[in-house]
Amino acid sequence: MKQSDVLDSKLIKGMLSPGSLDRISKLILLREVDSTNSLLQKELNAGLGPVLVCAADQQTAGRGRSGKIWHSPLSKNIYLSISWEYALPYNKLEGLSLAIGVVVLDSLISYGYPKLKLKWPNDILFGDAKLAGILVEIIGGANSSLKIIVGVGINVKMSAKQGSVIERSWTDLSSISHKSPPSRNELIAKLVDHLIDLFLSYPEKGFSYWRDSWNARDSFIGKNAKIISNGEILSGISRGVDSKGRLILDSSEGLLFIAAGDLSLRES
Ligand code: BTN
Repeated sequence: MKQSDVLDSKLIKGMLSPGSLDRISKLILLREVDSTNSLLQKELNAGLGPVLVCAADQQTAGRGRSGKIWHSPLSKNIYLSISWEYALPYNKLEGLSLAIGVVVLDSLISYGYPKLKLKWPNDILFGDAKLAGILVEIIGGANSSLKIIVGVGINVKMSAKQGSVIERSWTDLSSISHKSPPSRNELIAKLVDHLIDLFLSYPEKGFSYWRDSWNARDSFIGKNAKIISNGEILSGISRGVDSKGRLILDSSEGLLFIAAGDLSLRES
């Protein structure tokens, strides 16, 4: 690993905006952790926070959406989590996890990876291969206040051998461009800055502000898709998302609005 790519809190802090630096209560960088999301959950439970950032070189129990494993070998990949607190019930934040996808994608595009797309709700793809995933976990929220933990996993450089246990098609930043990927310290600072800007502005703007951006980056728009929702398979043509972040599926029964599930291309 190049010296500049060793996770370094001084370097990260030097690249964060003053506004972000003021808000972050603790920046934790680790060689190894079970899961950066789980670690932040423990720290929040212990009363620390509300704005914690954790990145690690390796996760021994990295978690993905829908209870899946996020394969997290020692590599140049990004395993990053950030927590935030809102004095709001969760229904006031609908669509936030999709907006996070747009922000992470745009941060990557700003480094010259233009061909990236989103897969509902917030996977980041290059072609059909998964490059990055986002796990949003909520603590509390039914009433008036909640904490969120946003976990971002980005494949930056992972050998074919390391990735061989991943069952779906995957890629990394090093494979999709001739130029070297940005340093992880720089990428982490940029992601944290952009996520903090999003967290601050989201209650006022809501998902309607992000909808067009999400749809413009949707890899499935106009394509046949099938959704597994609560064990049921729904098929139709994907029409992007509505102003609440629900996937619109043009099915034989009319338009369906799907709030959660797993999307995969229909096998024809
Ligand atoms: C997914 O696409 O299934 C979401 C993957 C999220 C992975 C990240 S890596 C950092 C953080 N810690 C975890 O255990 N998971 C998230």
